[in-house]
Amino acid sequence: MSGDRTKVRAKGLERRFGHLLAVAGVSFEVYEGEVFGLLGPNGAGKTTLVRMLSGVLTPTTGDATVDGASVVREPERVKARIGYATQEASVYPFLTVRENLEFRAAMYLEGPPALDAVEDALARFDLGGVADRRAGELSGGWRQRLSLAQAVVHRPRVAFLDEPTTGLDPLARRAVWDLVYAEAARGMSALVTTHYMDEAERCHRVGLIYGGRRVALGTPQELKAAVAARYRFYRVPGADPADWRGRAGVVDAWQRGGAVRIVLEPDAPAPANATPEEPTMEDVFVLKIREEDAHALV
Ligand SMILES: Nc1ncnc2c1ncn2[C@@H]1O[C@H](COP(=O)(O)OP(=O)(O)O)[C@@H](O)[C@H]1O
Ligand SMILES: [Mg+2]
Repeated sequence: MSGDRTKVRAKGLERRFGHLLAVAGVSFEVYEGEVFGLLGPNGAGKTTLVRMLSGVLTPTTGDATVDGASVVREPERVKARIGYATQEASVYPFLTVRENLEFRAAMYLEGPPALDAVEDALARFDLGGVADRRAGELSGGWRQRLSLAQAVVHRPRVAFLDEPTTGLDPLARRAVWDLVYAEAARGMSALVTTHYMDEAERCHRVGLIYGGRRVALGTPQELKAAVAARYRFYRVPGADPADWRGRAGVVDAWQRGGAVRIVLEPDAPAPANATPEEPTMEDVFVLKIREEDAHALV
């Protein structure tokens, strides 16, 4: 088992809540040392998926193995092996940073190894300077840093981080991604959920999820190349995207700075004054969702 470099293997994971199909047959893999981004808008099913992968929510159908253990048959084993940072950065506000880490470490380790793990996490996450501060006094960025440190204090092989950057400023977001990469560099696999499209660029590979379904999977470069093959992107002078919407061959148009960005069908002629542009992850996301919605209508 230890020679297996696939650390997460989700196979047809599905979860219903009453009539709602929150996650619909999602399959993907995460490899050793990989930073895998699970991207999708609010309500897409990211948290439901992560809860299933973490062994805390039983799938309606399908299964996943996480570091060799089945989430359906061995959820307790899965929970013992992974690191999990929930969306609500669950730190105890009245405990100090060190006490929060000690509390979490005690779930997995005891005695000197537990204390070593805490000191090590304080160092790795640069939390030494605030070790004796109450968690409730930390800023959002530092609270997230603590939440991340807690999730991996026992050095799991796999960590699930649910929206670790939501609500943070750009510098704090970057710090969180640097810390995730530092953990991945020692071989940990990280599955990180986010609804910030630009954060896809920071991942080795990305799965886009929408309406509970996986609508795209690949490296950011692959996903952008796929939309570049299907659409053309241009910047045109002007201040009114409505001039463009609905014209033959125009898929979408929106204002960007002092110009209008337009997306054309591949065979549509380029308008005069148009400057070609490369697709962004935001284009990937918007166009994939548009395609899904169009399918849903037929
Ligand atoms: N415990 C639950 N009971 C009923 N519906 C739920 C429950 N958890 C999530 N949902 C619904 O499932 C869908 C996906 O939710 P969620 O996984 O939280 O999405 P995301 O994390 O991508 O925002 C939403 O429509 C949400 O309202
Ligand atoms: Mg969520």
